[in-house]
Amino acid sequence: MSLGRVLIVNKSFPVAGLKLLKNKVEPVVLMNMDYEPQSLPDIKDSIRGYDALIWNTKHKLTGEILDLAGPQLKVVSTMSSGTDHIDIPEVKKRGILLGNTPQVLDDAVADITVGLLIAAARRFKEGVQELESGEWKYGVQWMVGQDIAGSTVGIVGFGGIGQAVLRRLRGFDVAKFIYSGRSDKPQAKELGAERVPIDQLLRESDYVILACPLTKETKHLINADTLKTMKNTAVVINIARGEIVDQDALYTALVEKQIFAAGLDVVTPEPLSKDHPLVSLPNCYIIPHMGSATVDTRNKMATISAQNVVLALEGKPMLFPC
Ligand code: DGY
Repeated sequence: MSLGRVLIVNKSFPVAGLKLLKNKVEPVVLMNMDYEPQSLPDIKDSIRGYDALIWNTKHKLTGEILDLAGPQLKVVSTMSSGTDHIDIPEVKKRGILLGNTPQVLDDAVADITVGLLIAAARRFKEGVQELESGEWKYGVQWMVGQDIAGSTVGIVGFGGIGQAVLRRLRGFDVAKFIYSGRSDKPQAKELGAERVPIDQLLRESDYVILACPLTKETKHLINADTLKTMKNTAVVINIARGEIVDQDALYTALVEKQIFAAGLDVVTPEPLSKDHPLVSLPNCYIIPHMGSATVDTRNKMATISAQNVVLALEGKPMLFPC
């Protein structure tokens, strides 16, 4: 017997998750992608009457959409680690259960963090631009970047991703790892990281890695004032959420060489226009929110989001309740 009707928002939901659902529930896939103009209107038109939603979309799940979904809705499962696109108070107010998919993406996002860090510190964008434009003008002072060996790496938000980044960077002979966040992490001792206040982290780090959730406290944590406190050789890496950085301030800091470079997997808005000022900067290396985009990671995320739904509809605890 079916546990209920489940709407999967966005047709890119991996088959691994779909297979798991098909044994237990009646899944319906909404055949849109976020970038299609019709996608939000279609969500609103189609959402009524389901027992559960798999929110495989970056559209914000608001009180208005929950009202359209109807009072029978029991479960929302987001195929993401981040939950900043979900109006959690509105979900909780209605007694709806919410689950997400953390941990399984830690390795993939940590890999891309290291990639961004090297690309930004070693000026990949400028190098490729010179190669492609035929302006390759080698000299001993040409394209010199920043070292990782001997550096201080500051990780803002020392959860699973931050810790996975540290484990990878250990092989690069970093001199010192520091982190800041809401609480002491028991793993820090074994990993050799010291918790410091955020202002100290920004002041002392050669690499500032943003791996924290977007909250009221972290919104625009990197702003005109905090950028001024950083080293002018510092490299800022953001793999968390675009809004943690005040992009106008970052633009100014990069142009005026207050810091050396930035590497961004996340920006505001997404997608970012190709005409955005940050895109034009040689010392700003941007990739389009690809952190968790590996086949295996996305399959695991889909499977967990499906399991969260099935478990909740069976009246059991979700794998990752929020
Ligand atoms: C997440 O899961 O929050 C990631 O940002 C998606 O790639």
